Amino acid sequence: MSPVEVDLRDARTFDRGIPHEAFARMRAASGLHRTPDDLRHGRGFWSVTRLADVVEVSRDPGTYSSEVGHIQMYDIDEDCLSARASMIDLDPPVHTRLRRLVSSAFTPRHVQGYRSAIRRRVRRQLDRIEVAGDGDWVTEVAAPIPIGVICDLMGVPEQDHDHLVELSDHLVAGTSSEPLPPDAYGNTTELRLLPFNSPAASAMSAYADRLAGRLRDEPGDDLSTQLLHAEIDGERLSPAEFANFFRLMIFAGNETTRSAMAHLALHHAAFPAAFGRVAGDRTLLGGLAEEIVRYSSPILYFRRTVTRHVELGGTPLAPGDKVVMWYAAANFDERAFDAPLEFRPDRPTTPTHSAFGGGGAHFCLGASLARLELVELLDEMFDRGLRLTVGEPSYVDSNFVNGIEHLPVRVDRDRRRPTTTNESTR
Ligand code: HEM
Repeated sequence: MSPVEVDLRDARTFDRGIPHEAFARMRAASGLHRTPDDLRHGRGFWSVTRLADVVEVSRDPGTYSSEVGHIQMYDIDEDCLSARASMIDLDPPVHTRLRRLVSSAFTPRHVQGYRSAIRRRVRRQLDRIEVAGDGDWVTEVAAPIPIGVICDLMGVPEQDHDHLVELSDHLVAGTSSEPLPPDAYGNTTELRLLPFNSPAASAMSAYADRLAGRLRDEPGDDLSTQLLHAEIDGERLSPAEFANFFRLMIFAGNETTRSAMAHLALHHAAFPAAFGRVAGDRTLLGGLAEEIVRYSSPILYFRRTVTRHVELGGTPLAPGDKVVMWYAAANFDERAFDAPLEFRPDRPTTPTHSAFGGGGAHFCLGASLARLELVELLDEMFDRGLRLTVGEPSYVDSNFVNGIEHLPVRVDRDRRRPTTTNESTR
């Protein structure tokens, strides 16, 4: 292995978080970094590590396709691509038509309507961990808030939230070095046909079928009902299309924000001056949430496949080449960010980091919702004057998400601040 290389295909490369030094060497080298072919992943891939290159790829879906090939680094067969396709794996114009079905629910203005429901969930979870005095920040706070919010939106009853968290966790396990056994959850579908090659995906589809059955009989005021009744070119979504949509929304709305909230606790402990400053000046709350997302980069990468001859970052590319956009590298690009390893809630808003994607058609649909969830959590923590003492985090075994599985914390209040749980004016 050359000094530049770490094995980016191996989840263990990320078992202590982002490999900053290796990424810095890749950004500094001329051209794109190449990982060779191997049996598990198929053809090798080019790593895109500079922010400007991530933006270029993200904004040109005609040249860098999400639909041709796969959006993860390993290859899958043609029939698998169509079996698992949701909008994130499709190119415009089909992608655009699907996204339009749900986009109005995620505009910055619309998500403000979820604010008080989010705050209630935040308060409930913080009350619990405060009463206990210590616990696992992920299980008690970072996991239940985002799954609760996205399940409310999708019309999933509260008693099923834990089941969906569990399935969502197992989907990520499909990117790890120790995946679930093929027959888990009674699965009989060939793994290659399932998203993340995970049996949990078929359990999630079965759940989506049951939910659809219920909502067809008793429509609700939720996105699932909206999707079940929506028409594209005069046709409703098929059961498989609905299930793929549902799975994407649950996974994307849950795993990522949970990860950002888990890192939030680590940052809170690691950067007390930055957090203290925002506690005293809440106009910086949005900047703090943004810095947490940049610094944690919950999705490490997405892949695109090249459709024509083109040059990127000094490297000539040919049709069929795979490019892997490492958001976790681009977000620390020295060319784009002043002192990128410093944690600064008052960073300028441009350039924008790429943790929600580098812009363009697939830019994170839920970015405004995720930001709001983080702001509400931070604001409530500051209202309460919470102080977190964190233990050793255990990272999710994956090279795709920068997730934290468990994070022991002790929770106290800063006794110098005479605050109460009901202090917030929101
Ligand atoms: C901190 C939290 C989050 C992070 C870091 C994150 C990150 C991302 C990234 C990197 C992409 C791919 C962008 C691209 O390919 O250009 C994406 C897409 C997406 N995200 Fe998020 N996300 C977060 C929260 C959410 C939430 C709360 C939802 C709620 C539904 C959501 C729904 C989606 C969907 C549906 C897509 C696919 C969009 C498309 O293909 O058009 N995300 N997200």
